[in-house]
Amino acid sequence: MPIYLDNAATTRLDDEVIEAIQEQAVFSTSYGAPTELEIKMAELIKSMVPNVDLIRMVSSGTEACMSAIRVARGYTGKNKIIKFEGCYHGHADSFLVKAGSGMATLNIQTVPGVTGGVANDTLTCAYNDLEALTQLVHLYKGEIAAIIIEPVVGNMGCIIPQQGFLEGIRKLCDEQEIIFIFDEVMTGFRLSQGGAQETLKIDADLVTYGKVIGGGMPVGAFGGKKHIMECVSPLGNVYQAGTLSGNPLAMIAGYTTLSILKNNPGIYKELSDKTTYLKEGLNRVLTAANTPFVINQFGSMISVHFSNHPVNDFESAASANNELFKKYFHAMLNRGIYLPPSAFESWFLNNALTYEDLDKTILATEQALKEIL
Ligand SMILES: Cc1ncc(COP(=O)(O)O)c(C=O)c1O
Repeated sequence: MPIYLDNAATTRLDDEVIEAIQEQAVFSTSYGAPTELEIKMAELIKSMVPNVDLIRMVSSGTEACMSAIRVARGYTGKNKIIKFEGCYHGHADSFLVKAGSGMATLNIQTVPGVTGGVANDTLTCAYNDLEALTQLVHLYKGEIAAIIIEPVVGNMGCIIPQQGFLEGIRKLCDEQEIIFIFDEVMTGFRLSQGGAQETLKIDADLVTYGKVIGGGMPVGAFGGKKHIMECVSPLGNVYQAGTLSGNPLAMIAGYTTLSILKNNPGIYKELSDKTTYLKEGLNRVLTAANTPFVINQFGSMISVHFSNHPVNDFESAASANNELFKKYFHAMLNRGIYLPPSAFESWFLNNALTYEDLDKTILATEQALKEIL
């Protein structure tokens, strides 16, 4: 029995994707072996994004990021990685240090079960602070295998990289022979066909994908430059495998979704225009409510922070009035609008949302603010 929520975010999976899944399911839901479909999927991804010479399918974003880190370590022979405070790369042990998303929402500082040895190999730095990052890299000179980043962050709300930040990291990585990993689990195929790499014009060495590329099915992928990806077994010795990897239902759903995006490039402008419309409407009612606020938007990613200072890293996101956000979330839910349940999550628009839905969201915000302020 399907569950429908009576709110603006209720959308239905694209008919083409539903039909493709149904047709495929008749043959098998799992083979435990590579399939032609997986190769078609890899070729489609390669045709849409830069710097992906080789790619391997996995079953989640966590697996993709965990495997990319292993490849970077195997390739460089170095152990430590740098991640940014408030970025979330899945729940593998190495990433559960100053992570965003649920960990930030629940204010979990250290995770029982993650050994000190693993945690010590994960260094952290404030997002958008190139100077601090440069110092960290020099402090651990010769020890850092990879820098992993959400190129536009979605896991502490939407946080936008400042001019020169990603460019500076790229230069640092080249100078210090560090693998630069773009975690595009959220931004991949969302910001543009080529993801953040294309939109921001920055080359990554390795890139990870999830979510969108499965068209709603459990999936992930990691890929990148040939000389690095050739380390992965059986070409190299960095072992990685998964019985469910390249699952046929996930592959057909993803292949169909990505093909729709490839054949309809106008979707990106439509999404961005709708998000700008939402931003302008929210801006209007939040200004009228006379409460401090910041709205960050990048393409179809957007977030509202109840703050009187710019929100550009974890500290500024955490010091906003997030208790007020919780009240806003519930007041919106009571009005049938299901927002992400935390200030530490970006909102993502989809193109099934109509301008009428967005007007309802803006009106509900106006009413919600009257109730909670
Ligand atoms: C940027 C990013 N990377 C990795 C992950 C982990 O993906 P999954 O939940 O599929 O394991 C997420 C999940 O939200 C994410 O947002």
